[in-house]
Amino acid sequence: MLEQLKLIKQNAINEVETCNDIKELIELRVKYLGKKGPIQEAMKSMKDLDIEERKALGLVSNEVKDAISVAIDAKQGSLEALEVEKKLQSEFIDVSLPARGQNHGHTHLLNQVVEEIEDLFIGMGYDIAEGPEVEYDHYNFEMLNLPKGHPARDMQDSFYITEELLLRTHTSPVQARTMLKHEGKGPVKIICPGKVYRRDDDDATHSHQFMQIEGLVIGENITMSDLKGTLDVFAKKLFGENREIRFRPSFFPFTEPSVEVDVTCAKCKGEGCPMCKDSGYIEILGAGMVHPNVLKMAGFDHNKYQGFAFGIGAERIAILKYGIDDIRQFYTNDMRFNKQFSK
Ligand code: DAH
Repeated sequence: MLEQLKLIKQNAINEVETCNDIKELIELRVKYLGKKGPIQEAMKSMKDLDIEERKALGLVSNEVKDAISVAIDAKQGSLEALEVEKKLQSEFIDVSLPARGQNHGHTHLLNQVVEEIEDLFIGMGYDIAEGPEVEYDHYNFEMLNLPKGHPARDMQDSFYITEELLLRTHTSPVQARTMLKHEGKGPVKIICPGKVYRRDDDDATHSHQFMQIEGLVIGENITMSDLKGTLDVFAKKLFGENREIRFRPSFFPFTEPSVEVDVTCAKCKGEGCPMCKDSGYIEILGAGMVHPNVLKMAGFDHNKYQGFAFGIGAERIAILKYGIDDIRQFYTNDMRFNKQFSK
């Protein structure tokens, strides 16, 4: 009997030693230590033995059970450790591999230019004003001294939505809206950046949607020299200290007198070259002294208050500053173009 138990122990330990699979190991535990295992089987004959023999058999069978159990536990420990090791190997992440660069976004060139202009004017004490892009004819034209049927309306081919509603053709309606808010009391000092729309066929120099930045100052004793000084600072800051501006007489229904403002050509510094069509100057914006009718309509006393206004085309400024040859570049989202201006 004792011999038989020793044999069982030997067999069990051999099998456990050669076992390489946790599932099989569990089966081995059931096979040798379970209720129907060989040890239990051997114990059945116990009842026929005398007490001393029983004791001895009990001792040996416990020892055999312990030995098998210890062997299985040890094997289980090493198989589990092996499994963890395998898992770690298969899930290994090489943190030293170089990263696959992320695509970082950046402010669009046009917005960079608008923000630069905003910062400049904020630095001179201006507030930023905003207005709707879907605008009433009333604010877009009538409040700006362009009554219905006025021939100057043809300067701005418009997208009408109804008889009274249209996509604003310029940012000038924000002048009217802001002045009304001030209820006849100065000073007013705003710039208004925003999108505007015209019924133009898109080409290298035209876009049916573009960006304007409107400026408006109203106060007592505001003169044309204030306008000139302000725009001189603007031109020098944006294009360089040695740039000069000049005023050319022009016409806008909402300003009197009206001017078109040119800046000395960057390429030839005023000498004359193909870029400036030999004039030495390049046009950058329209401006003027706020027309008394516009002041009156918005509730300002035109004998007490004067004002100046200007309208900057943001694309035009960006085109001149960065030597861009096609306005459509701002709107076609060609990443090769956009990426050149990441900061
Ligand atoms: N609104 C004009 C346009 O879109 C630009 C402009 C010119 C605005 C003169 C002004 C101004 O405020 O005084 O063509």
